[in-house]
Amino acid sequence: MNVTAAVFREPGKPLTIETVQLAGPEAGEVLVKVVASGICHSDLHVVKGEWSTSAPLVLGHEGAGIVEAVGTGVTTVSPGDHVVLSWMPYCRRCHYCLAGRPNLCELVESTAYNSVMLDGTTRLSQAGEPVYSYLATGSFANWAVVPETAAIRIRDDAPLDKVSLVGCAVATGIGAVANTARVHMGSSALVIGCGGVGLSTVSGAAIAGASQVIAVDINDANLDRARALGATHTLNSRTDDVLSALPAITGKTGVDYAFEAIGLPATIELAYEALAPGGTAVVVGQVAEGKKISIDPFVMSDREKTLTGCNYGSCRPPIDFPILVDLYMNDRLPLDSLIERAIGIDEINDAFDAMIRGETARRVIIH
Ligand code: APR
Ligand code: ZN
Repeated sequence: MNVTAAVFREPGKPLTIETVQLAGPEAGEVLVKVVASGICHSDLHVVKGEWSTSAPLVLGHEGAGIVEAVGTGVTTVSPGDHVVLSWMPYCRRCHYCLAGRPNLCELVESTAYNSVMLDGTTRLSQAGEPVYSYLATGSFANWAVVPETAAIRIRDDAPLDKVSLVGCAVATGIGAVANTARVHMGSSALVIGCGGVGLSTVSGAAIAGASQVIAVDINDANLDRARALGATHTLNSRTDDVLSALPAITGKTGVDYAFEAIGLPATIELAYEALAPGGTAVVVGQVAEGKKISIDPFVMSDREKTLTGCNYGSCRPPIDFPILVDLYMNDRLPLDSLIERAIGIDEINDAFDAMIRGETARRVIIH
């Protein structure tokens, strides 16, 4: 079938809206009518050339839609099911999948991270030449074939335009709080960077019962959004000195938990330096290839500080996605505050420009 897609061809160039051919689902795959897709900074990393990828490539990895058809052997979804797409299709067989940590699946490096399906091939093409699907998701297209483990069934009454964000920003941000750091009630949490991922982290810290949720950004509009999602304090790091502001807020030398949700070495170092003794800093943002950070190992051991990574909110999509959708549907997770507005796919490059200028939380493409 023909699909309409936003295609990446080379770094630094705008995406082009093109017609691409999509083959049907093979064994263990699912054809999804993609209804909506959020735009995430991880798409922008590719556009900017900060991460190397295959091309031409249909970008987009924060989607939701409706199952149209399934390949042989698929058991977890059927035609008509509503699904949130997961960008971490997992094999179900490796050490990490069996240990209940599918976000660390050993197959991902050679499959989704290479923009191909679990069998190493792609269902997309143009005039017989392969076109790749970002993270085996490719949600900047109105149809997608994805591995079964990337199509996570959710309840039918959830609005797909809103819960598309569960597929990346919300799973990552709330998962960083609930799964990776396990933020405890009464603690203090610092969140550096309040885009879709950081705002979800703020929301997660509020839901977890942190007494102080301190949001940091350079954009006041996103700090306002952070307040709407439960931040108790906001700091604009263009004018406020974050480290010297923390003792008065927390009553300690720093915070119990710090989350970096931008992907810059300097702000990862800031997250670590912001910790009180015994605190944990979580690297949620994804850094451009080849970057390094510098921390003081004496302080790390002497003050028992932890610095840890977080991929996809340490989530298990079939367990976490329905929970996150329920939180939204039960008014516990104010997802609407994450979304700036809905756009058409032809407005995709404007959305990236706004993201580069730091002017937007999430824009969501409605196909
Ligand atoms: N200090 C503070 N805030 C900053 C800084 C800075 N130096 N630079 C950027 N920001 C803010 C922006 O103003 C914006 O609000 O960080 C936020 C980043 O938001 P988005 O660009 O929307 O990024 P998002 O999609 O949330 O992803 C964040 O997580 O999954 C990863 O790859 C993703 O690395 C990216 C990160
Ligand atoms: Zn993302």
